[in-house]
Amino acid sequence: MSNLLGIVGSVSNPSKTRTAVEIALQSAAGEFDIETDLLHLAEYDLETADGRKLEQYSGDTARALELIISSKAYLIGTPVYRGSYSGVLKNLFDLIPRGKWQSNQAPLENRPVGLIATGATDHHYLSVSQELGPIASFFGAYQVGGGIYINASQFEEDRIVDKKVVQRLQNLGKSTIELSQYIDKSTFLSSLGPQF
Ligand SMILES: Cc1cc2nc3c(=O)[nH]c(=O)nc-3n(C[C@H](O)[C@H](O)[C@H](O)COP(=O)(O)O)c2cc1C
Repeated sequence: MSNLLGIVGSVSNPSKTRTAVEIALQSAAGEFDIETDLLHLAEYDLETADGRKLEQYSGDTARALELIISSKAYLIGTPVYRGSYSGVLKNLFDLIPRGKWQSNQAPLENRPVGLIATGATDHHYLSVSQELGPIASFFGAYQVGGGIYINASQFEEDRIVDKKVVQRLQNLGKSTIELSQYIDKSTFLSSLGPQF
């Protein structure tokens, strides 16, 4: 079981998004006594979501879903594609159960989710709050702060050279675990869930 799972919604490898997610993951692991794991979609050959029951998925898809189900907090990163999150990440969101007809599992419900997007320019910085934010809300997850957007000029190759961005990523990783621990101890935060 991982306490903190980094999800990288890019099929590129190396990936700028992965670099960002890994900084946040490592920072959280350095501060807290936790297990972390990484689900980089470049390394998984996922089936296309088609509404079947959770147990009917196999191979990489089952492996990816098991990682998500066995985790307690999440950092979700995406490259911006056409002003939104990537298509492969959309497919993963379509695969993740939310306690309804597909499965009674609802891994993201009442759990903290730190959101990260990388794009070429700053034109689509609102994709964090306006594209990733609503899907976190749909699952009944808690978005951790305002998330982080990083443009290409803040990277050199796949290394982040903007120190403020690095610090913000480190803070996001730690904040995600802090919120996870509060939720674990809570009565109300841990039972709110989505309205529908
Ligand atoms: C198909 C495609 C669409 C893209 N659309 C956008 C976009 O709308 N806005 C933007 O700022 N960058 C866009 N980009 C650039 C990527 O978001 C950017 O290079 C990102 O940092 C790549 O992350 P990765 O290395 O993790 O895959 C696009 C790239 C591709 C391949």
